Amino acid sequence: MNIRIGTRRRVTLAAGLFTAAVLTVAATQSSSAASTLGAQAAQSGRYFGTAVANYKLSDGTYSGILDREFNMITPENEMKWDTTEPSRGSFNFGPADSIVSHAQAHGQRMRGHTLVWHSQLPSWVSSISDANTLRSVMNNHITQEMSHYKGKIYAWDVVNEAFADGSSNHRSSVFQNVLGNGFIEEAFKTARSVDSSAKLCYNDYNIEDWNAAKTQGVYNMVKDFKSRGVPIDCVGFQSHFGTGGPPSNFQTTLSNFAALGVDVQITELDIAQASSTNYSNTVRACMNVSRCTGITVWGIRDSDSWRSGDSPLLFDNNGNKKAAYSAVLSALGG
Ligand code: G3I
Repeated sequence: MNIRIGTRRRVTLAAGLFTAAVLTVAATQSSSAASTLGAQAAQSGRYFGTAVANYKLSDGTYSGILDREFNMITPENEMKWDTTEPSRGSFNFGPADSIVSHAQAHGQRMRGHTLVWHSQLPSWVSSISDANTLRSVMNNHITQEMSHYKGKIYAWDVVNEAFADGSSNHRSSVFQNVLGNGFIEEAFKTARSVDSSAKLCYNDYNIEDWNAAKTQGVYNMVKDFKSRGVPIDCVGFQSHFGTGGPPSNFQTTLSNFAALGVDVQITELDIAQASSTNYSNTVRACMNVSRCTGITVWGIRDSDSWRSGDSPLLFDNNGNKKAAYSAVLSALGG
């Protein structure tokens, strides 16, 4: 009898342990299967973000998707020079402030885009021909904008698109032409002196293919900066891809840059026709490189895209998830 009772107790205990084990496994699995892009990316310590236009925040569909899916925001245009300093010494942070306030209210972090770029640059800057004047203007712009957002920006695109396509050299710009090669280093040193809490990134496009001369040019710059202690924390790979998607060696590129001692970030992802395979391959390239800290798509709905005709994003014009959305969630580990 005792034995049966004993047996009954053992059976009950075993059943209890088994149930506890099943519940534990289920809980573990359920915690690793998030149902949104940002939450799933966070499972691996990464972020999933999007570019945001301030004037669209009042669009309920737009902001609903933004706040459900994304935990990082890059202002699409509101932090660029033509908006923030339209005339010398006259700053306008209002449009970007509305995005930063939204992010803070919704638990989203911010990427700052961008401090020094030859495009969307007011003519009062691009017409400067005196080196001392331009150096002072550039450093003041960096100082004023970074000071305004001090402590609120996870990473700044300090310099954007300074290298020439198809080359390992800098592109022509007022900064390059008037200040020479050293303007990039100068910008990063100034940035570090203003907000040490922000990661400082160099951001560019067509540097995803390891074999490209432009990629090698940026790589050698980062290697040189790290060897001389020039402050740089990250490289942004814009990742604007055609229908072919990412180059097959994209993961190699990310890995080789990370090996220099910087974070790598996919900063402006959009892919013509948004095939699931191409988005999966892009996300997996990042997931397979530990210092790939996050992915930002360059817009929410196809209609929000600068290249809307290519239907390159994860949500259709009505805000419905496209097939690529599920592919991305899965590639993130969902
Ligand atoms: O603000 C003016 C508005 O006053 C005017 O009425 C309107 C019509 O002319 O133009 C508005 O400016 C537009 C601006 O976006 C803000 O909407 C410009 O014309 C337009 O050219 C500009 O396009 C932006 C583009 O950068 C400029 O190069 C895109 O929205 C933006 O998605 C795109 O983003 C860049 C990244 O910053 C850097 N990497 C490449 C990426 C794609 O070009």
